[in-house]
Amino acid sequence: MFLKSRKLGILGVGNMGQAIIKALIDSGTFAASRIHFSNRSSGKIEKVKRLYDINAHTTNEELVDNSDILIIAVKPQDLEEAVEPCRSSFRKDQIIISLAAGVEFKLLRRLIPEGHLTRVMLNTPVFVRKGVVGFLSENDLYEEPLRELLSPLGAVIKLEDGDPFEAFTVASSSGTGFIFELMSYWQDWIEEHGISTEEARQIVVQTFLGTAAMAEASQETFEELQNKVTSKKGMTAAGLESMRSLEIEGLMRMSFSKAAQRYRELGRS
Ligand SMILES: NC(=O)c1ccc[n+]([C@@H]2O[C@H](COP(=O)([O-])OP(=O)(O)OC[C@H]3O[C@@H](n4cnc5c(N)ncnc54)[C@H](OP(=O)(O)O)[C@@H]3O)[C@@H](O)[C@H]2O)c1
Repeated sequence: MFLKSRKLGILGVGNMGQAIIKALIDSGTFAASRIHFSNRSSGKIEKVKRLYDINAHTTNEELVDNSDILIIAVKPQDLEEAVEPCRSSFRKDQIIISLAAGVEFKLLRRLIPEGHLTRVMLNTPVFVRKGVVGFLSENDLYEEPLRELLSPLGAVIKLEDGDPFEAFTVASSSGTGFIFELMSYWQDWIEEHGISTEEARQIVVQTFLGTAAMAEASQETFEELQNKVTSKKGMTAAGLESMRSLEIEGLMRMSFSKAAQRYRELGRS
């Protein structure tokens, strides 16, 4: 209900901005007539207007004036330049959502003096509306509308600041990259056994999709589900024994830690 009477602004309509616009229109969460946007390059303004029939604004200040909820979807390095001219336009009753990876509340508050601030982290499967979206708010005031707004993009998780937010970012955003790495190994092995590239790809995609769908449909733990496909002394058991003796878990944990370390370094810079 809250969203039905509000105007949504998207500041920056690159990859993420457009993925959000598309998901909100396709899901019926927002009518195009209530979505407003601005963008740095004029070429993209024309293209986005043509594609989605939403309201274009030529300045970010004008966009802020016309938004009840504002999603800032510029790269972190462009954030200051994008919002600095709007300082006096922000209002107390606005919900301001920043997608900028690694930009903390302290800096956001310095740039945006008024409004309810929320940080959102999303992963690339949001492009097919199967993402996982983490949010972090200054308080719980708008939790329900935020969930409603973000849910067309995928699963929505409320997070605490600090370690949980960092772990979420690594596991979901870098995690997508890690899973593609595993999918490549799978595909290479299948191809080496005489199956075409196209079919090997199909086998991998379907195995990952099917496994995830089974997990989604079940209340059982991953271990319980795994036990169902693993008969004692069978072939899966032999493969798993090898994975465990090679300490794949330890190697994966090292990759997670490396990504987390880089996340902190990028945040500092
Ligand atoms: N892409 C991902 O997979 C991903 C994942 C997680 C988080 N994020 C976060 O999402 C945000 C957006 O990323 P993205 O991949 O969508 O970036 P992007 O494709 O580069 O889009 C950013 C858009 O912002 C516009 N812009 C830059 N400065 C502006 C200004 N001063 N005023 C108005 N518009 C301005 C750019 O305009 P022009 O380029 O047309 O000039 C561009 O269209 C980033 O903060 C990123 O950290 C992205």
